[in-house]
Amino acid sequence: MGFKTDFLWGGATAANQIEGAFDRDGRGLTTMDTLTVGDKDRPRQITFKTLEGEVKHAERLAAVPEGAVGHIAPDVFYPSHTGINFYDHYKEDIKLFAEMGFKAYRMSIAWTRIFPNGNETEPNEAGLAFYDAVFDECLKYGIEPVVTLCHFDTPLYLADHYDGWSSRDVIGFFTHYCETVFKRYKDKVKYWMTFNEINVLRSWLQIGIHQNDDQTKFQALHHVFLASAKAVQLCHQIIPDAMIGNMVMYAPSYAMTAKPEDVLENIAYKRQVEFYLDIQVKGYYPAYKLKEFERKGVQIAMEERDLDCLASGTVDFIGFSYYMSTMSTTDTSVPKTPGNNVLSYKNPNLEVSEWGWTLDPLGLRIALSEMYDRYHVPLFIVENGLGAIDTLEADGTVTDDYRIDYLHTHIKAMKDAVDLDGVDLMGYTPWGCIDLVAWSTGEMKKRYGFIYVDVDDRGQRSFKRYKKKSFDWYQAVIASNGETIT
Ligand code: BG6
Repeated sequence: MGFKTDFLWGGATAANQIEGAFDRDGRGLTTMDTLTVGDKDRPRQITFKTLEGEVKHAERLAAVPEGAVGHIAPDVFYPSHTGINFYDHYKEDIKLFAEMGFKAYRMSIAWTRIFPNGNETEPNEAGLAFYDAVFDECLKYGIEPVVTLCHFDTPLYLADHYDGWSSRDVIGFFTHYCETVFKRYKDKVKYWMTFNEINVLRSWLQIGIHQNDDQTKFQALHHVFLASAKAVQLCHQIIPDAMIGNMVMYAPSYAMTAKPEDVLENIAYKRQVEFYLDIQVKGYYPAYKLKEFERKGVQIAMEERDLDCLASGTVDFIGFSYYMSTMSTTDTSVPKTPGNNVLSYKNPNLEVSEWGWTLDPLGLRIALSEMYDRYHVPLFIVENGLGAIDTLEADGTVTDDYRIDYLHTHIKAMKDAVDLDGVDLMGYTPWGCIDLVAWSTGEMKKRYGFIYVDVDDRGQRSFKRYKKKSFDWYQAVIASNGETIT
């Protein structure tokens, strides 16, 4: 009973949310570098270039900022440019992870540190050397790096010059990048994932496409699926003892009532994530999606061997993020609440976080059972956590009991999934183990970490690190292999 002895306890981050140093040592720009800071009432904005070359701020900003050059406007704060400056602090940060007893550290490689435009033939040695140093530092403490190949950060050059993933050429650029890092790090990294939250990739920001219609989006996604399948095949060839997974945002959905209409609506909702899992785990386009394409007039241009490629590029495990559950109903008058990349109907039975995300620990057990029963491959919870406002006291302490409560109830749910439902669970890497820039709002004040980083929403302050109360708590959880969780 209990978690496996080699259970991968750890924490998770992403390059664009921690590294900073956005223009150092030859790194190229990514779409994420054009995202301004927002907050929960004021969405982030994007400075982007249309295919005609005009610079625009997307969505709610009417005017093009004066003096905008390329994608970056003057006097605008872009949080990815500074992050928490992991680039200069990685040794100190990994030492703290080791002190907590981490067995694994999930992070991502920034494609543009290795290939600044995304499509060069020769890699940037300084970028490769940086990740060598990070991996060496992890391995020094017995921490397994778990590496996401692309965490939302599409090279800006590919967005501008190729219309991002709508171009089939990008598959070749991505697989060249994968082959380069697999060969370079084959003795250091044994756990990989292809695209972060592949089921939320839908816009210029994440995949560099300039139109958001279904035809463009699903054609681009077809290319992403092929790139992922090819990466899986390459990884198996180059690092035979590695495991490579996909990564989805999984929010289990409940029918609001027992009305068959709500149940049917719920099936449709669930298919929105199952589509991605069916392709990446089972290796084929599911019938319900092909019918949807027919209805919508979406025609995916495929080459002869594309379907074989998908079938032979299935993943070894499912990595997923879990923050919340959602609810389905045909009654559109039901109030909504924000969530992780979704605006969902508000479940009257559950509380929400300060950012409106539904709190549902049991939903994690449901998620694990749903996926394991349907796909029969090992599961890895690579994101979970509570974004909350923390207070750094004058004596350097942070009392984050709310975070401990959140994580404790979620770990209990995953323990039940293992002990009572027989789920094969590989590991648990809570999100933002060290405070980082929030993806949805760009804020620093939405904090997830066991480690407080003294940076504000404008990228100012000392960048000093402090252990929160949850730091010691998580250390005890790991030391007991999940037996001590209260
Ligand atoms: C996931 C992403 O969507 O949720 C992370 O993979 C993100 O990049 C996380 O940070 C939490 O979302 P947020 O908006 O609170 O940072």
